[in-house]
Amino acid sequence: MTQAPPTPRNFRTNDPPLEGASILVTGGTGSFGRAFTRSVLQRFRPGRLIVFSRDELKQYEMQQELDGASAPIRFFIGDVRDRDRLELALRGVDYVIHAAALKHVPAAEYNPFECINTNVLGAENVVNAAIRAGVKRVIALSTDKACNPINLYGASKLAADKIFVAANNLSGRDGPRFSAVRYGNVVGSRGSVVPLFRRLAASGAKSLPITDPRMTRFWITLPQGVDFVLSCLATMEGGEIFVPKIPSMRTVDLAAAIAPQLPYESIGVRPGEKLHEVMISDDDSRNTIEMADRYAILPGFPSWRGESTYKGRFPFVREGFRYASDTNPEWLDAKALQTMLADLDRG
Ligand SMILES: NC(=O)c1ccc[n+]([C@@H]2O[C@H](COP(=O)([O-])OP(=O)(O)OC[C@H]3O[C@@H](n4cnc5c(N)ncnc54)[C@H](OP(=O)(O)O)[C@@H]3O)[C@@H](O)[C@H]2O)c1
Repeated sequence: MTQAPPTPRNFRTNDPPLEGASILVTGGTGSFGRAFTRSVLQRFRPGRLIVFSRDELKQYEMQQELDGASAPIRFFIGDVRDRDRLELALRGVDYVIHAAALKHVPAAEYNPFECINTNVLGAENVVNAAIRAGVKRVIALSTDKACNPINLYGASKLAADKIFVAANNLSGRDGPRFSAVRYGNVVGSRGSVVPLFRRLAASGAKSLPITDPRMTRFWITLPQGVDFVLSCLATMEGGEIFVPKIPSMRTVDLAAAIAPQLPYESIGVRPGEKLHEVMISDDDSRNTIEMADRYAILPGFPSWRGESTYKGRFPFVREGFRYASDTNPEWLDAKALQTMLADLDRG
C-alpha cells in the first residue's frame, strides 16, 4: 500500500475555452456549484455565469458573498423538473454543468419518486433543453454510488449517466456533446461526515459514531473536483464517464484526524450503505481507458461516433480491473487527512 502524495493531486491540466463564454451550472448554490462559480470567476472572464436552482434564499446569500465579483453572474430561479424553464435559461449558453441533485440516501429511499423526478427526469430535461438551445458541451456530475448501485440515489444517478451518454445519439454530429464525471465523497460538502464529526467534537460528545471500522471511501476536495470537471470539459469528446485517480481513506482515520482524543463507537453499516465504494466495476473495465491522472469509461453503444480520438493514444485497463476504495493503491493516513482538513479551513 502506498501513501498518497502530501500535496493533493492537481487536476488543473487543461483549460476549457471559457473566456467570454456563457456557462450555466444547475445546482449552482450547492457545495459544488459555489466552489465552481468562485473558481471560474477567479480563473476566467466568462461572458455570463448562470446559477440555476430553486431556493431564492440560497441564491440571495450567494449573491451577498460574491458581492464585487458579481458582474457576469445571473441568478436564475428554476427547477430541473421544469423543461420549459430550463430551455429559457439555456438560450445562448455554451457550456452546462449539471450538478443539481437530491443526494441524501435515506431521503431518496423514503421519497423514491421525488429522487427519480429530480435526478432522472431532471437529467432528461437538461439533455433535451441543451439540444434545443444548441449548447456546445454538457457535463453531469455523477457519483461512486452509481456504480453497482444498492440504493435509489445511486440507481437514479446511474440512470442519469446512461441518459447523458445516450444523449450523444440524439444530438447528431454537430449538436452538443454530453459526458459525465464520477467521483467519491467530497471533503466537507453539505451534510457530509466532516461537519458531523466536527459538530460532535465541538459539542462535547464522548465518542464519534463509526458505522464500521473497516469502512473505506474515496476522498476528493471541492477544488480538486472543480478542476477535474473543468479539465474534462476541455477534453471531452462526448459519451465518456470520467473518473479521477484519487486516494482512499478509512473513516476511523478521519475520526482520529478530527478528534484524536475521542474514541469511536461502531454503530453498524446503515441501510443502503456499502462497506467500500466502487467507481469502476470489473464489467465497466472492458470499456475503460487509463490516462495519467484519470480513467474514462467509454460508451458501450457509441453509435454516434466516427473514429474516437482516444484510439491508440491510451491503453485499456486490464481485464477484470476494478477501481474500488478498499483496493485503491493510494491512501490518506490521519496526517494527510489533517493537511486536507487544514486546506479546507483555509478555503
Ligand atoms: N457531495 C458529495 O460528496 C458528492 C460526491 C459525488 C458526487 N456528487 C454529486 O455532485 C453534485 C453536486 O453535489 P453537491 O454536494 O453540490 O450537492 P448540494 O450541496 O446538496 O447542492 C445541490 C444543489 O442542487 C440544487 N437543486 C436540488 N434540486 C433541484 C432541482 N430540482 N432543480 C434545480 N436545482 C436543484 C440545490 O439548490 P435548491 O435546493 O435551491 O434548488 C443545490 O444548489 C450532485 O449531482 C451530486 O450527486 C456529490
